[in-house]
Amino acid sequence: MTSSSAHLSITGTTRIFGVIADPISHVRAPMVFNPLFNEKGIDAVLIPLHIPEAKLEETIHALAMMPNMGGVCVTIPHKIALADLCDELGMAARITGAVNAVRFDEGRLIGDNFDGSGFVAGCRGEGIDITGKKILMLGAGGAARAIAAALAGENIAELTIANRSVEKAEALVRLLREHFDTLSTDFMKLDVDGPDISGMDMVINTTSLGLHSDDALPCSLISAGPQTVIADIIMIPPQTRWMDMAHKQGLKTHAGRHMLDYQRDLIFDFLKMAD
Ligand code: ATR
Repeated sequence: MTSSSAHLSITGTTRIFGVIADPISHVRAPMVFNPLFNEKGIDAVLIPLHIPEAKLEETIHALAMMPNMGGVCVTIPHKIALADLCDELGMAARITGAVNAVRFDEGRLIGDNFDGSGFVAGCRGEGIDITGKKILMLGAGGAARAIAAALAGENIAELTIANRSVEKAEALVRLLREHFDTLSTDFMKLDVDGPDISGMDMVINTTSLGLHSDDALPCSLISAGPQTVIADIIMIPPQTRWMDMAHKQGLKTHAGRHMLDYQRDLIFDFLKMAD
């Protein structure tokens, strides 16, 4: 038996981590982290914790009091409510107002959001250089906020946000300017004509367009330059129609799964899973 297939058993010394959600059956974190614990020989387990929305406050404080419970991964519908309950928040969580990992420290809740840093780590890991690049983001929702905040902390040249409801794009740009005063930012309305993307080094779709096969395209690719990387954060389907078109057009593409895949190690370190 190789060490990666060896199975660690749960004993009295095993540290516990959780993933909290409601509903719970779709969560992926147990399948992501438990094999990693096995592979690394770490005496820990990550279990699904079904916490109803109305019970979050009392449940999370009780869990955090347990000395052998290290923390939780957080998903829908708890990301925003739990950010409000945290004693300490990282920069990404403060900007997005949402957490997707919370560490327990003697009853204290320390939260942060790794969606954006996962996206940036994914670009690096897949060989996409964002330093000095002009980036257009389509969408201004929760995921867009997280990614925009992470990109803004990198040395990019310019970040433009285009959204159907233009006031949300403007609000996000205002927020970014508060935290990153030297970053060059702009916003625009995302409409049927679509933006001219010829000068962009990367276009990221964070809208929900592409989840369904009959969705409109997030934007036209006609004006794309040969340097334009087309990135999507939609995970299902693994390759959207928009990305498929980009690929056929000879453009470099970056799939949605990378954002999640590359968060694994960031959350592993943040939750101090190896301790
Ligand atoms: P998430 O947390 O996944 O980012 P969200 O916060 O609901 O989800 O954001 C969804 C994004 O997709 C928004 O930018 C939304 O645009 P609006 O702010 O104008 O609603 C965008 N979106 C959803 N449906 C769209 C559509 N049919 N055309 C263009 N943009 C769309």
